[in-house]
Amino acid sequence: MLFRASAVALACVLRASPAAADPLHRGGVVASAYPEASRAALEMLDRGGNAVDAAVAAAFAAGVVGPYHNGIGGGGFALVYLAGARTTLALDFREVAPAGASRDMYVREGQVVGQLATDGALSVAVPAATQGYLALLARAGTLPPETVLAPALRLARGGFQVTPKYQALARLRVDCLRGSADAARLFLRPGPDGLPAVPALGTVIRQPELARTLERIAREGARAVTAGAVALAIERTVQGAGGILSAEDLARYRVRWREPLRGSYRDHAVVTFPPPTAGGVAVLQVLGMLEQLRPAGLERRGVEDLHLYLEALRRAYVDRARWLGDPDFTALPLERLLSPDHLAELARTIDPKRATPSAALSAGGPSEPPAGRTAAQPAATHTTHLSVLDRAGNAVALTTTLNYAFGSCLVVPGTGILLNDQMDDFAAAPMRPNVYGVVTGEANAIAPGKTPLSSMAPTLVFQKVHPGRVLLAVGSPGGSTIPTTVLQVLINVLDARMDLVRAVGAGRVHEQWLPDQVVVDQQSLEPATRAALEARGHTFRIVDALGDAEAVMEDEETGLRTAASDPRGEGAALGQDGPPAR
Ligand code: DON
Repeated sequence: MLFRASAVALACVLRASPAAADPLHRGGVVASAYPEASRAALEMLDRGGNAVDAAVAAAFAAGVVGPYHNGIGGGGFALVYLAGARTTLALDFREVAPAGASRDMYVREGQVVGQLATDGALSVAVPAATQGYLALLARAGTLPPETVLAPALRLARGGFQVTPKYQALARLRVDCLRGSADAARLFLRPGPDGLPAVPALGTVIRQPELARTLERIAREGARAVTAGAVALAIERTVQGAGGILSAEDLARYRVRWREPLRGSYRDHAVVTFPPPTAGGVAVLQVLGMLEQLRPAGLERRGVEDLHLYLEALRRAYVDRARWLGDPDFTALPLERLLSPDHLAELARTIDPKRATPSAALSAGGPSEPPAGRTAAQPAATHTTHLSVLDRAGNAVALTTTLNYAFGSCLVVPGTGILLNDQMDDFAAAPMRPNVYGVVTGEANAIAPGKTPLSSMAPTLVFQKVHPGRVLLAVGSPGGSTIPTTVLQVLINVLDARMDLVRAVGAGRVHEQWLPDQVVVDQQSLEPATRAALEARGHTFRIVDALGDAEAVMEDEETGLRTAASDPRGEGAALGQDGPPAR
């Protein structure tokens, strides 16, 4: 306990946030998982940039200081609300499978070898974060790339300090990181036995090669990494280590502007991300079921209502497993999945007094996943989210990831680029759990050029009285638990009327059909509540922390803004002051 307290205190010193005591702001607000990234966003806002400039600066900076979560070797999704045009844009810059990928590429002697999809060269999907960030900037930003990339460059050159979170994730991946000479050199330090080991707290991690790559990106645009020497270096590194990613895959990749998913809850419009993430569908399905089951609102932490919430989640994850995948490869029945009739049908199967055993619900395949990875860590947080709202009311919710901690652990020599392991989000075999224990089916089978199904769920909620203004921008890491984190922040604000800081900090509860267990934050449920749910047939697993929500909000009445960075993480919520927002 003492160690934990002192580690947290040290983290505060290392990453002292300039956040003022007053959490209400009149100007722009930002929340991200790293103080350095939040400061980068604020710097852009202070220079007169908009929410997109701020979000892109934060995303590039986040990739430098949070290599265990994200970076230009990864990909993600962004929602952008343009207040003047009253339009929401949705950018999909998620990685896709290389052209050389095949359905059974992780099967050896009839068995899936899961580690091939999470560690090393074969786990790497086509990285797309650079293209994504620059596409956002080109379409809706106002500042030049050199300005927006400047904070990331400074951080890559000057370095950042190792925090408790860095250490925990490096510990998880130390063997994987030792497998790449450049990864070990950059992210580990020699231990007492001479082997690369987890660095001490406060160690400064400098990334001069990455700084040079960022400089080239600022000068040449995305071509700096999708063509020429860097693309060839990526190909050489991956293929030299037994992978399939090619320079041609990088050159061929295109980001996709998608139609956002739209729904509503308690008369607030909710806009979230469509497939190839399953996150937004789950958010809207659960909200839809809950609204039908509890038209007057949910009782926060009431046993009856928690039970309904868990059962609604269980059903949403069955639909996910059965139907969802890359919409560019499979026709998805989205309209039906989100229709009030379908949600009513699902809600009708909920027994208000008893948990439905997961085995009784079928996604059209074997209802229990084959043994092997059911002991996965659905609660780990290796992704990152950032939310920004600017003075003019433009907003960004951006979730980005390398997938598992430190991605594939493969660093491309001379470039500082740490590559993702996003291939693990495919179904290596139908209904086989991935590293988050989540199962998917045929629609998520591996194919060349296809996007693996995600759980990420950047989400915007709009105001009731001023429907052209964003009330809340929110998102989280957490693999399969992402939709549940987003849902609970939203429900805490809209049903329980909690202020944003409390809504983000409150305990969380998660269920994902398989494995058949409820995952809860430590201290999130009173013992009596848990016992009452156990009596209804729910079984529990307690984890340290669920999710790392990063959210910003505008008060409907006053127009004052708040930002909240999850107390489970090491992030920072910052805001501008000055003249009123409206
Ligand atoms: O796209 C996804 O859903 C995953 N690759 C996200 C990974 C993640 O959130 C890791 N944190 N636990």
